[in-house]
Amino acid sequence: MAFPTETVYGLGANAFNEDAIRAIFRVKGRPADNPLIVHVDSIGRARELMQVEPASFQELVSRFWPGPLTVVVPRHAAVPDVVTAGLDTVALRMPDHHLARELIAMAGVPLVAPSANVSGQPSPTSAMDVLHDLNGKIYAVLDGGECRIGIESTVLDLTGERPVILRPGGISREDLEKMLGENVSLIDSTPDHPPSPGMKYRHYAPKAELRVVRCNEALNTSALVPLIRAEKEKGRSVGLLAAEAFRDVGADVFFSLGEGTALDYARNLYRGFRFLDKAGASIIFCPAIDEQGLGSAVMNRLLKAADIIIDI
Ligand code: TXA
Ligand code: MG
Repeated sequence: MAFPTETVYGLGANAFNEDAIRAIFRVKGRPADNPLIVHVDSIGRARELMQVEPASFQELVSRFWPGPLTVVVPRHAAVPDVVTAGLDTVALRMPDHHLARELIAMAGVPLVAPSANVSGQPSPTSAMDVLHDLNGKIYAVLDGGECRIGIESTVLDLTGERPVILRPGGISREDLEKMLGENVSLIDSTPDHPPSPGMKYRHYAPKAELRVVRCNEALNTSALVPLIRAEKEKGRSVGLLAAEAFRDVGADVFFSLGEGTALDYARNLYRGFRFLDKAGASIIFCPAIDEQGLGSAVMNRLLKAADIIIDI
């Protein structure tokens, strides 16, 4: 069953039921070596799933749970191999959506839940997105409206000497550093050394070709006009995913990112990809934003999805 969280919709199964978990991998078309996050509704439950408790665990989760922080900790033997893809660590998170927590409480067990999309598609941020990908393949989706954050949780590895961000997300590095009083590094992902097994796959991308436009200064709306015109002249259907101020620069289809804040981007990024794909865009332009706070998670997703990065 799919359910809403504050980040994206998840496809849930009992974390102790190996058959149900295998069905999730099958339905999503997800590679078996990509481990799942276990979702809990209490800190006590999380403790039952770890072998040893990392020093900063208590401090971190009492500040950021429920919320978009996933912690990777040493795995308890009770957690099945299929969940962790055989790793000796497990990823845990308490989501900040009442429907998610009520579902976990009613189930009486922790729930594994990858994003409820077909692997490779943008994560779903509404019940309709889930049905678009998985209708007929899942039992149900709980409709909790649009997701408040819109991109996935931050995955923070607590098993080393220092905490390391494996996937930037809803809780910013700056917030983690402020809380912990130490530097938190962001793992440098290269295709040969994926930090988190999931990060080696092409992700988050729309079907259309995506071009991310970067500029040292604030991007002038008129700077996009010639780029868009050149593609239209080649007969391409041009989509534009950008702040409202860019509405009139000549794209065939426009999806507004509101005022263009990092939160506007996060909330609307995947929605925008899906919308522009449906509208038949063959190429999508999207201006980059500052890699600060939530903006660094947004840029992580945008750059992973991009076919071409244009610096102007
Ligand atoms: O916001 C979210 O985290 C959403 C909602 C539904 O909670 N879930 C989500 O799950 O994004 P998924 O499966 O799409 O992404 C989980 C990520 C993958 O990159 C996976 O490789 C990583 O977490 N991961 C899971 N277990 C891990 C582990 N033991 N060590 C390192 N990375 C792990
Ligand atoms: Mg996913």
